[in-house]
Amino acid sequence: MSVTPHDESFMAAAIRLSRRHLGRTATNPSVGCLIVKDGVVVGQAITAVGGRPHAETQALAEAGELSRGATAYVTLEPCSHHGKTPPCSEALIASGVARVVISVTDPDPRVSGRGIAMLREAGIEVDAGVLEAKGRRSLAGYLTRQTKNRPYVTLKLAVSADGMIGREGEGQVAITGPEARAEVQALRAETDAILVGIGTAISDDPLLTVRTPGLEAQSPIRIVLDPLLALPLTSKLVATAREVPVIVVASEEISPSGSEGGAPPTRSDLESRRTALEAAGVEIVYCNPYHPEILLPALATRGISSLLVEGGAKTARLFLETGLVDRIQLYQAPVVIGEGGIESPLEITDIPSGFAHTGTQMFGEDRLDEYERGL
Ligand SMILES: NC(=O)c1ccc[n+]([C@@H]2O[C@H](COP(=O)([O-])OP(=O)(O)OC[C@H]3O[C@@H](n4cnc5c(N)ncnc54)[C@H](OP(=O)(O)O)[C@@H]3O)[C@@H](O)[C@H]2O)c1
Repeated sequence: MSVTPHDESFMAAAIRLSRRHLGRTATNPSVGCLIVKDGVVVGQAITAVGGRPHAETQALAEAGELSRGATAYVTLEPCSHHGKTPPCSEALIASGVARVVISVTDPDPRVSGRGIAMLREAGIEVDAGVLEAKGRRSLAGYLTRQTKNRPYVTLKLAVSADGMIGREGEGQVAITGPEARAEVQALRAETDAILVGIGTAISDDPLLTVRTPGLEAQSPIRIVLDPLLALPLTSKLVATAREVPVIVVASEEISPSGSEGGAPPTRSDLESRRTALEAAGVEIVYCNPYHPEILLPALATRGISSLLVEGGAKTARLFLETGLVDRIQLYQAPVVIGEGGIESPLEITDIPSGFAHTGTQMFGEDRLDEYERGL
């Protein structure tokens, strides 16, 4: 049987469903699964929060006896190995489904192609690659960590009408309106970790959490690039480190730049800052903060599959220059910053080559343009 428009509709629904648990399934991908019998959905599930149980077993359980002769739509190739749960391919075979439609083949060497082979050997018809581009986007974090050993990196910047991202010495300057800010909260909620430079952490004193009522538990891990442990103990990040994890990426080797002012901290200064930050619940990771090509694999090893870089200017530039940005979200607002503005490292007219424009949306008066590189 060849792939029909109905298959694409059900797969689109499975992909949309899968997105609900993005950022909440630990190191497992958030997968969507529908069981369809005689053109009607009789079972549906997403990988559970925490990563287990997998989507297929839950959807099959919901469908029960109706699975027999049905079609299963799965956004990622069903697993074929005995991990902490038995293989989903075995569960599909045991359920009696007649056909399995898959969007993306799993790059995990323990699964790749084997899940499909197991199903076919059991006499189940398998069609793979349905809405694959869309499926890959929904699994971007998982696929990037599997194939590139680093998280999928989104750079988000809000730029004023005169090309600025803030004003020197003024801390947080509102650039976008409430609708755009709500959208950013939703993005944070589906992301494993969020990162800022020490300049932003000091000048803006941000919380970097999800404050949407009911979604607070989905706040990402907060990471600050802070070579000399300058994060103030009075900052909101430190004050809330026991509620939502904070990681400071520090390097004792880097000496302070002239622009920071003051004398370089002594070894004993650094030691007392380290002790105080750790006592407040902050985790300190020693890894050159300004070499994302070293930092990102270290984050992937900790299970972080998606990272949102929220600035400031120097940090954004660093990630752009090292070519480690996969997606750019550029908000443009009608606000004018004027005198003392901090220039944006990026404007709509100078998006780096290799990025394709994937959409424009309006949030109130603010315009969001999104650009992505191939996975
Ligand atoms: N509109 C937005 O989307 C947005 C988002 C976040 C922040 N902001 C604004 O951005 C401003 C802060 O920007 P920023 O550029 O000063 O801060 P930043 O990127 O958060 O932090 C920069 C700090 O890191 C240090 N650094 C040293 N080497 C670096 C390297 N290779 N790469 C990156 N950083 C390095 C810088 O030291 P040196 O000074 O010695 O170079 C500086 O102290 C604030 O006004 C904030 O409000 C705007």
